[in-house]
Amino acid sequence: MERIRNGGPKANGFATGKKLNGIDQLAWHKISYKALFGLLFVTPALVQYSLGLPYWCYPITCAVLFLPVFGVFMVVFNRMCVAESGTKSTNVKRFIEFTDQILASKYANRKIPMIVLYEAYADGKLDFKCDVLEALENRHQFCTYELTFEHIKFLLCNFIPEVIFHSRNQDAEQVCDHYDRGNDFYRGFLGPMMIYTSGICRDETENLEDMQVNKLKSVCEKCQLKEGERHLDIGCGWGTLVNYAAENHGTYSTGVTIANRQVEWAEGVAEEKKLGTRSKFLCLDYRDIPNVQFNKITCLEMAEHVGVRKFQSFLAQVRDMLEDDGIFFLQIAGLRRTWQWEDFIWGLFMAKYIFPGADASCPLGWVVTQLEQAGFEVHSSETIGVHYSLTINHWYDNWMKPQTQAVMTEKYGRVVRIWNIFLAWSTIIARQGNSTCTQLLCDGNYTVKKQIECFEFTPDVGFTLKKRGGGWVKQLLYIAA
Ligand SMILES: C[S@@+](CC[C@H](N)C(=O)[O-])C[C@H]1O[C@@H](n2cnc3c(N)ncnc32)[C@H](O)[C@@H]1O
Repeated sequence: MERIRNGGPKANGFATGKKLNGIDQLAWHKISYKALFGLLFVTPALVQYSLGLPYWCYPITCAVLFLPVFGVFMVVFNRMCVAESGTKSTNVKRFIEFTDQILASKYANRKIPMIVLYEAYADGKLDFKCDVLEALENRHQFCTYELTFEHIKFLLCNFIPEVIFHSRNQDAEQVCDHYDRGNDFYRGFLGPMMIYTSGICRDETENLEDMQVNKLKSVCEKCQLKEGERHLDIGCGWGTLVNYAAENHGTYSTGVTIANRQVEWAEGVAEEKKLGTRSKFLCLDYRDIPNVQFNKITCLEMAEHVGVRKFQSFLAQVRDMLEDDGIFFLQIAGLRRTWQWEDFIWGLFMAKYIFPGADASCPLGWVVTQLEQAGFEVHSSETIGVHYSLTINHWYDNWMKPQTQAVMTEKYGRVVRIWNIFLAWSTIIARQGNSTCTQLLCDGNYTVKKQIECFEFTPDVGFTLKKRGGGWVKQLLYIAA
């Protein structure tokens, strides 16, 4: 906690002056998108000309050369930025103990590319001389954010095809594999509440459980949950919000998740609390949710898994299931638009090891545009990125307890050290604002027809809300007269 208070966010959601700690590798302002687009079109033209290909081949040549040209451009541009911020360092050995001699001699006086660092750490080829988080707070002294061959291979062979196809099978494989790893694994860092999303910190003395209760309360308040309402939570995880809403607000809440073990856990809690029919869990892909109407729909950090390509159809499905006067609450994590190389390298690490297939982690502007295109009206947007940093820092503290490390390493092996990096690095990334998280409150944005259906006009009072039903033609004629 002290580490965060010294270098990071205040509980009120604002950052201290130390937020931008370290080297500036602003890619956003330095990248020349004109040069990139120029190359994407000029290179195929040159290839066409030198090979004497007919004009009609040009679109095909463009398509074939798109990825290689894009890849080469990114690598060259990345190397220029890395060279500018310096690759020599005498500080590597201050923080790192090598057990692999090849690495030790290669990086004796040279900064280590981040991907080499975390892969070697996971393989036990190096260790940190201090706490992992403490070491990573100083990572600019011994790390670079170089794009390597491994990155390009992952981008071309995994990430880009997965973004393009994002099939149902892909989701089932990647998401289930991840979330069905074992409930004890997640309990090891999430603690007893088993909530895998950002909490809300109201006071610096609060622990993880306080922060998660604050979040549950705030979600239910924002959604104005009322007794007897039908509530759907898409991507419900271990069902904590569903059970909380049913217990404290008397709703009929349904949770949907693709992961079997989460449903087992959630049903166990519901049974303990004797919630009966008020809380229900379905192990389903979101696309298979029966199309019934709900008064309130919540979705906390699941929409990232939907992917960019399916995002619009997902939102259309949500809107279809929402009552006309319903509320949709979306909490979504994403990257910033003004990206730096560290954001990009961290994003690829997350995509490979932590949230595979969660490619809709986009800047806020993109999410709002998508919501509006799907017909939603966005009432409010609250950025809770620094709260996320505090939440992850609590997860990190839980995870690094010696007893937890020993038990988890025995059962899960290499992945435990990957999680050490994920939780330490993400504490910093969320604190710096490289990634963030936003709560969006939306309604179905009535069309004029629906508004007329919903309001009643009387000459003395004007428009007043009435129950849904016909009569709008009469009212239109009345207004026109
Ligand atoms: C980051 S967790 C968030 C869990 C929960 N909302 C919370 O606050 O703890 C993402 C959730 O989305 C679910 N999910 C991902 N893809 C899904 C899909 N295609 N259909 C249904 N659920 C999915 C996962 O099983 C997991 O429960």
